[in-house]
Amino acid sequence: MTSTTRTLGRSGLAVSPIGFGCWAIGGPAFRDGNPIGWGKVDDDESVAAIHAALDAGVTFFDTANIYGAGHSERVVGRALAGRRHEVVIATKFGNLFDEEAKRAIGRDASPASIREQCDASLARLGVDVIDLYQFHIGDYDPVQAETVVATLEELVDAGKIRSFGWSTDDPERAKVFARSPHCAAIQLHANVIDDNPAMVELLESAGLAGINRGPLAMGALTGKFSRETTFAADDVRRRFDFSGKEGRTLDALDRIRDILTSGGRTLAQGALGWLLARSPAFVPIPGIRTVAQAQDNAGAIAHGPLGAQEMAEIDQILKQLGLR
Ligand SMILES: NC(=O)c1ccc[n+]([C@@H]2O[C@H](COP(=O)([O-])OP(=O)(O)OC[C@H]3O[C@@H](n4cnc5c(N)ncnc54)[C@H](OP(=O)(O)O)[C@@H]3O)[C@@H](O)[C@H]2O)c1
Repeated sequence: MTSTTRTLGRSGLAVSPIGFGCWAIGGPAFRDGNPIGWGKVDDDESVAAIHAALDAGVTFFDTANIYGAGHSERVVGRALAGRRHEVVIATKFGNLFDEEAKRAIGRDASPASIREQCDASLARLGVDVIDLYQFHIGDYDPVQAETVVATLEELVDAGKIRSFGWSTDDPERAKVFARSPHCAAIQLHANVIDDNPAMVELLESAGLAGINRGPLAMGALTGKFSRETTFAADDVRRRFDFSGKEGRTLDALDRIRDILTSGGRTLAQGALGWLLARSPAFVPIPGIRTVAQAQDNAGAIAHGPLGAQEMAEIDQILKQLGLR
């Protein structure tokens, strides 16, 4: 059985090994007419899912100001009211939006805007401090990112955030943040199909947590999609390409399905178990919008990391498929 907590990098904060991704519960939002949300949601079900996760031992929640154009932070605030002391809350900044129109309207990482965005997130979440404040512009200029870091250190001094990180897949950019004492984590895309060894090396040598977004490949690793699956017009997964990337994911999943479900795991639990085994720095944050998903994913905590033999077998199969 796995340990019931992991450490959120240099923050020293203890978090459950599996967190809760709060993008989908924000509901619909658009950028330039294209969906950047997961379609309609029922806020009562979202709150119930967060409570089910808490009851199952999940203590780490990841949202962003832009998710649902502010709505996700409001739902998280509503669900966690009165239980703030039990949880670690991460949110993100960098994107500007019109909350009424549910539209992204640009990006800003100037010091004045970061301070404003932080105050607005604190208000929507209904908290007086953000545990982990993450920069959401993954491809931002690394030289200009020095100014972002300086502003974040000021927010730590002001007591508005406890620690910070960058959501980026690029280790060279991550290194700019890693030099700063209150940088606790890097958020990276990682799942059993898409590894990022250079980032794992950096995280482990720098003592940072690696928060895994896309741990279920947006649901594709749960086994519920086929090449015939279609998505609503307001679902970001409308862009899935089952004759390309997502098709390769489904083919690979067929080959590793039995290994992932060993020991009585569901497929989602197996995919999360792969991440737990990949690095002790990793904290996967599966996106969740129902009570059943919250309970299934939290079940990965008790199953723990996949074993060394399972990891080696998966690696060998993915090498044969040209995915390693
Ligand atoms: N740039 C960034 O910083 C960034 C980018 C992406 C994500 N993130 C963060 O990472 C989190 C997770 O990543 P992700 O949203 O890309 O997706 P993901 O975790 O790979 O997949 C989440 C989706 O899979 C489905 N699902 C989850 N658990 C399931 C289960 N047990 N059984 C069946 N289906 C299940 C749900 O979709 P349905 O029920 O809708 O089918 C859910 O919305 C986000 O919520 C967000 O917090 C950050």
